[in-house]
Amino acid sequence: MTSRITHPDGYVFAKRHCLSISDFNRVEIDTLLELGLHYCAPQAQRCDHLKGALLVNLFFENSTRTQNSFEVAAKRLGADVVNMAVGSSSVAKGETLLDTAATLNAMRPDVLVVRHNASGAPALLSQKVSCSVINAGDGVHEHPTQAFLDALTLKRTLGDISGLRIAICGDILHSRVARSNIILMGLLGAEVRLIGPPTLLPADADRWGAEVFHDMSEGLRGCDVVMMLRLQLERMQGALVPSKREYFHFYGLDRAKLDLASPGALVMHPGPMNRGVEISSDVADDPDISLITKQVETGVAMRMAIIDALYAARQNGEAAHV
Ligand code: CP
Repeated sequence: MTSRITHPDGYVFAKRHCLSISDFNRVEIDTLLELGLHYCAPQAQRCDHLKGALLVNLFFENSTRTQNSFEVAAKRLGADVVNMAVGSSSVAKGETLLDTAATLNAMRPDVLVVRHNASGAPALLSQKVSCSVINAGDGVHEHPTQAFLDALTLKRTLGDISGLRIAICGDILHSRVARSNIILMGLLGAEVRLIGPPTLLPADADRWGAEVFHDMSEGLRGCDVVMMLRLQLERMQGALVPSKREYFHFYGLDRAKLDLASPGALVMHPGPMNRGVEISSDVADDPDISLITKQVETGVAMRMAIIDALYAARQNGEAAHV
């Protein structure tokens, strides 16, 4: 059985879930990024590949970009979308995550998009439901679709990720975006650097395959891309930074610090941003250097590609078993 979603070498994409970047090999990653590039074209964003399919957004943590991006992506593929309002659902009456998922599964969705504050929650659900599960961010573990959209943004802008020197800066300890990007950018051939205060870097960060710096002026030298991370005060127990003002002085990205990177270096941020804490507004809002709006725009195309590929793999697998 062949699929619409094939790699030029004939490999047929067969993954059912998107839970962690480490679940994908290079061919699968290239297949998804190529499909993402296809969906970047406005005319490609109107299709009916998922007509009659149902995507359920199940977000236990707040979201602006990810949840809306999945909704737009699914609708542009022709699918129906249900956004479960967790706060007004039976979760508030004590229904468990697994019971909630089993209930939604009985309504026969095709794709369940899950954000949860517990690392591993989407992976657990994927073993209990019959549909595809997409991890939209689980605790401090991973945010794989954010890393895919970041890679696609760089691919659209610079062509090739291989050989780029990418600095990921700030609150790495609490960042699922950092964990997914370290794996993905490394697989795509980039040199990844981690920059942050010792209190915001995991003790074993030097074993993640990235060079660790505590000094922005050293770490940014020669970097082609500077990816800033949000200071996640809501996940901190106790004060891990002396003050926001001091944090900005040492680790916030402003023009002076950006000048230490390679000439023409580009700036990324997954959002939401704390302006004046990890990034200055004049850097974030400069369209010549900031890819932040392009990341959001590219996110729709990348999520269309991921939803489409998982759905096609499932259809293909079911057809093969008939
Ligand atoms: N980047 C990201 O995950 O943003 P949201 O929290 O708004 O979804």
